[in-house]
Amino acid sequence: MFYEIDKNDHGLPYNPIKACVVPRPIGWITSISHDGLVNAAPYSFFNILSYAPPYVVFSAGGHAEDQKEKDSVANVRLTGEFVYNMATWNQREQMNNTGLIVDRKLNEMAETGLRPLPSKLVAPPRIEGAPVHLECKLHEIIDLPGHDAVSTHQVVFGVVVGVHIANDAITDEGIFDVARYKPLSRLGYKDYAWTDDSVIFQMEKRTPEDTFGKPEPAEI
Ligand SMILES: Cc1cc2nc3c(=O)[nH]c(=O)nc-3n(C[C@H](O)[C@H](O)[C@H](O)COP(=O)(O)O)c2cc1C
Repeated sequence: MFYEIDKNDHGLPYNPIKACVVPRPIGWITSISHDGLVNAAPYSFFNILSYAPPYVVFSAGGHAEDQKEKDSVANVRLTGEFVYNMATWNQREQMNNTGLIVDRKLNEMAETGLRPLPSKLVAPPRIEGAPVHLECKLHEIIDLPGHDAVSTHQVVFGVVVGVHIANDAITDEGIFDVARYKPLSRLGYKDYAWTDDSVIFQMEKRTPEDTFGKPEPAEI
């Protein structure tokens, strides 16, 4: 099948686009408002973009209720800081619940039974139980034009300044055993996945010569 985004003529019962780029990591973002109110929300339009230093990105549409920008964006715009928390199988319900709360006066971590851990270099707290926390400073926010206020996205780029990894997920060989905590990812529709040892496999990094043989010398 083929459809054009402008015509939206896929003819399917549900828009398939979010199932077309999967799995997506879930950036569980904590931020604080100017008066210290803690906010937590999941973003599957999220990724890491580089490593020295690492930049991360999350992309937020407008709130369906009031069309305004989401609290995470407003907070980061104001304070210049946020934390990425890795969402895992154990905390899937809390993660999902933090995606529901829209009352800007509520502390979403407290409301969903999550406990805060202090960060070291930024003010927003970390979520206890998450095996990875990335403390981030705002780099830039750009707008992606959408068809309306809800589909217009603010894309928040942050630079990572501090990294926490759970000690019990680091093996004797010094490898971060990411599967131990079953990190969650987002598929399309209502679907999610987790990563564990049963789906992880290795591939050796090869050279072009290993794979394709030595090239013949070019004829002159
Ligand atoms: C797994 C999951 C992934 C989500 N990903 C996004 C996303 O990438 N962008 C977005 O705008 N909203 C996303 N949402 C919805 C937001 O989390 C939700 O609108 C939340 O209330 C925003 O909170 P905030 O206003 O406190 O930032 C997602 C929700 C869930 C449960």
